[in-house]
Amino acid sequence: MEVSLIGLQNAGKTSLVNVIATGGYSEDMIPTVGFNMRKVTKENVTIRLWDLGGHPRFRSMWERYCRAVSAIVYVVDAADPDNLSVSRSELHDLLSKSSLNGIPLLVIGNKIDKPGALSKEALTEEMGLSSLTDREVCCFMISCKNPTTIDQVTDWFVNHSTSKN
Ligand SMILES: *[C@@H]1O[C@H](CO)[C@@H](O)[C@H](O)[C@H]1NC(C)=O
Ligand SMILES: *[C@@H]1O[C@H](CO)[C@@H](O)[C@H](O)[C@H]1NC(C)=O
Ligand SMILES: *[C@@H]1O[C@H](CO)[C@@H](O)[C@H](O)[C@H]1NC(C)=O
Repeated sequence: MEVSLIGLQNAGKTSLVNVIATGGYSEDMIPTVGFNMRKVTKENVTIRLWDLGGHPRFRSMWERYCRAVSAIVYVVDAADPDNLSVSRSELHDLLSKSSLNGIPLLVIGNKIDKPGALSKEALTEEMGLSSLTDREVCCFMISCKNPTTIDQVTDWFVNHSTSKN
């Protein structure tokens, strides 16, 4: 299956991909230029994870890399409330593209180990997730330092690998 990870710069996308791929946390401080692809196998499912740069100059390519995927993963820094409104408008802009109709969305609130991180309820509200009614929407709160929270994410991927039509 193919999955695209998007979100603002510094939301923790590359660290998340690293922890999914290796099971260990390593801080990735280098902003992604363009994209990276990591291939991960879990429970016999090979997942190609497209990790797309979050800098404004890369956002225009998000749609192209999301068209053919089984799921879109949108990563949000839950401990950075100042950027939530930008994050929300980028998400809603992207999902308004008709080419992406119906593709399941997993919103990940990252960095819940940090002080001031939002709750899942607050993040759902701030990101306007209840207005997204044209597709399956799921939300998990994670910390890349806590493997249990990452297991949910890989389980969700595995569950969605067969739901592709
Ligand atoms: C987040 O918000 C701060 C303060 O407004 C800003 O300096 C920073 O560049 C923003 N980060 C991103 C990734 O947009
Ligand atoms: C993975 O594939 C092997 C060989 O086909 C099978 O025995 C095993 O049960 C599969 N594991 C899972 C988790 O599906
Ligand atoms: C994956 O599917 C199993 C079986 O349907 C379910 O019990 C589990 O909660 C699902 N996990 C996730 C993270 O969606």
